Amino acid sequence: MKHTKIKALLETSEVGEKVIVKGWVRAFRSNRFIQINDGSTINNIQAVIEYENFDEAILKKISTAAAVEVQGTLIESQGKGQSVEIAVENVQILGEANPDEVQKTVMQPKKHSLEFLREQAHLRFRTNTFGAVFRIRHGLTFAIHKFFNDKGYYNLHTPILTSSDAEGAGEMFHVTNFDLNNVPKTEDGKVDYSKDFFDKPVNLTVSGQLEAELGALALGQVYTFGPTFRAENSNTSRHLAEFWMIEPEVAFNDLKDNMDLTEEFLKYLSNYILDHYADDLQFLNDRDAQEQKAKPEKDRNPLTLIERLQFVANNDFKRITYTEAIEILRNSKPFKKKKFKYDVDWGVDLHSEHERYLVEKEFNCPVIITDYPAEIKAFYMRQNDDGKTVAAMDVLFPGIGEIVGGSQREERMDVLKKKCADFNIDEKEVWWYLDSRKFGTVPHAGFGLGFERMVMFATGMTNIRDVIPFPRTPGNADF
Ligand code: 4AD
Ligand code: MG
Repeated sequence: MKHTKIKALLETSEVGEKVIVKGWVRAFRSNRFIQINDGSTINNIQAVIEYENFDEAILKKISTAAAVEVQGTLIESQGKGQSVEIAVENVQILGEANPDEVQKTVMQPKKHSLEFLREQAHLRFRTNTFGAVFRIRHGLTFAIHKFFNDKGYYNLHTPILTSSDAEGAGEMFHVTNFDLNNVPKTEDGKVDYSKDFFDKPVNLTVSGQLEAELGALALGQVYTFGPTFRAENSNTSRHLAEFWMIEPEVAFNDLKDNMDLTEEFLKYLSNYILDHYADDLQFLNDRDAQEQKAKPEKDRNPLTLIERLQFVANNDFKRITYTEAIEILRNSKPFKKKKFKYDVDWGVDLHSEHERYLVEKEFNCPVIITDYPAEIKAFYMRQNDDGKTVAAMDVLFPGIGEIVGGSQREERMDVLKKKCADFNIDEKEVWWYLDSRKFGTVPHAGFGLGFERMVMFATGMTNIRDVIPFPRTPGNADF
């Protein structure tokens, strides 16, 4: 007899089979019914014991959170909501859990606030919500690799330590191997960061894009999927200091191809979760429905979580230019009634209140905004013929905001050098990037998907701290 995972057992085992299950007790009722979960699925298996046949000392140790191994025969279940259960012949305690201690944790079976769950990030894996979230997070990871592999893309590992600030936003974490008792100083007495890494400046990467471009200009189509770091001190529900990003980069693609790829990709991911994670999704769907009910009516999402995924999977995204977006916003009610906090004028960056208006009020569907003013976007974006805008695109999702940012890249050396000058970027620092425009340069394009924002969309979780196992936010890095 071998140890079976509960998921496999529920899917393929038959009544009469002898089984061994190992997992953690979720609840033990009436000295008879043990609910066991082993993480393979949101569903528990019920193990039924005839307590007269078991040692009192063992029964006492079967309590919430304890680890157990049960051996028995699969029988048809009498209870509602489950098809089979285990008639237990043998039970062993693998790891005890003190009930008084358990009571103080998120494992105590009752509704806990997400704040409390965050304080116990080391234990929240044991809850239904976080089990479901992290299984779906895995499902998305797998689907991302599958999507690109099936299309003939190559996964490229780009460096985490780098001296480049790809986005030019200056939000980098410095990394040093300084002897802290002997920190190198510049002539005017400041810390000399140019000596960070054995005499080179170095930081944690903000994006693997520039390196991915080099890969794409040889391998044709590549994608990165790695951790990225931003030292922005923003305590919002959508920003992390350490987040994961997927960055495809494709030679010979223009902005339209880039939009088509993004749309196909996000539809694929939505479908994948609908098709492969039905149980977890149903649980999160019900959870989301409760959360929606608790909100004032005007803030409720009329679609359920499952309907939102179906909507993305089956409907075209709306595509508009930045200039059109500004037009729409300036003609909107909140603008006319001075309800927006930030000004709307051609040339300013859109704030989340504007993005939310466009996706949630004006269009009520995912929106791709293209062709932003050059000044508010990164140096590498391809200049349009109007001389004012660049071939950029942001994808906005209802309830999430910006989920993807991307562009066609500037492949023309002379224009790129001028952009470096405009953005105050020393050509010597990006010589390797400029070099790629010297040898067979071609149009190419790519984008970055914020992985956690996709997980938020697929799970209905509304705080980004609740979709990554160990969130890194200002002041939060213990474990
Ligand atoms: O728009 P961003 O900054 O674009 C880039 O980094 C480009 N190099 C991508 C590319 O073209 N290859 O970031 C891309 C996405 C955003 O749309 C957002 O979803 C996510 O990454 N993101 C964050 N997610 C969590 N926390 C943060 N602090 C994030 N900053 C960006
Ligand atoms: Mg962006």
